[in-house]
Amino acid sequence: MTALEPSSLALTMLITLRTATRSDLPKLEWYGQYAHYRHIFQRAYREQQSGRRLILVADSNDFPIGHIFVQFIRPEAQELGGRAYLYSLRVMEMFQGHGIGTHLIGEAEKISAARGYEFTTIAAAKSNHGARRLYERLGYRVFGDDPGQWSFLDHEGKTRHVQEPCWLLQKELNLR
Ligand SMILES: CC(C)(COP(=O)(O)OP(=O)(O)OC[C@H]1O[C@@H](n2cnc3c(N)ncnc32)[C@H](O)[C@@H]1OP(=O)(O)O)[C@@H](O)C(=O)NCCC(=O)NCCS
Repeated sequence: MTALEPSSLALTMLITLRTATRSDLPKLEWYGQYAHYRHIFQRAYREQQSGRRLILVADSNDFPIGHIFVQFIRPEAQELGGRAYLYSLRVMEMFQGHGIGTHLIGEAEKISAARGYEFTTIAAAKSNHGARRLYERLGYRVFGDDPGQWSFLDHEGKTRHVQEPCWLLQKELNLR
């Protein structure tokens, strides 16, 4: 073999979908790529402990290579009732396109249905055609849109403003 001839190794990866633990919090920042979301991750984790949110991770070798967050909105706080909001779906770039995102959404739906929610909703940035295509393939339908304006405090204490117009999609869950 010379340096110009590639040599390959075929590996099988085991990916486990599980609830995030406290030790996942720094790892969710993906080595700094998402450090600016530190407070958002911490708050979601606190709310997971009180049952109002869930951070579902796709774990490989004890590292969260993908995740989806679920907000369980109290029925009395909703206009339409019975909706769980899926958000922050992300899979590390090198693992995209292998079905991990699809599995994360499916598991989040199962958990929401088991808690008695009739619908799941999810937002896709209007510029993110791939995400919208994925959600529609999984049975989601657009029911509205949103200007997507919100703010958050980053890890350095600075307020960051986001403006990302998005489609709102929903799916009716099978509660059997
Ligand atoms: C969207 C995302 C979570 C999908 O995860 P995944 O494991 O790649 O998804 P799957 O393999 O189950 O499904 C593949 C589908 O995801 C979508 N997709 C793939 N790469 C994508 C990307 N970079 N951005 C958005 N959507 C993408 C496409 O619809 C693709 O289907 P296609 O091959 O027919 O085009 C992942 O691509 C990602 O993290 N993207 C960047 C963050 C993002 O856009 N999140 C969604 C916020 S609304």
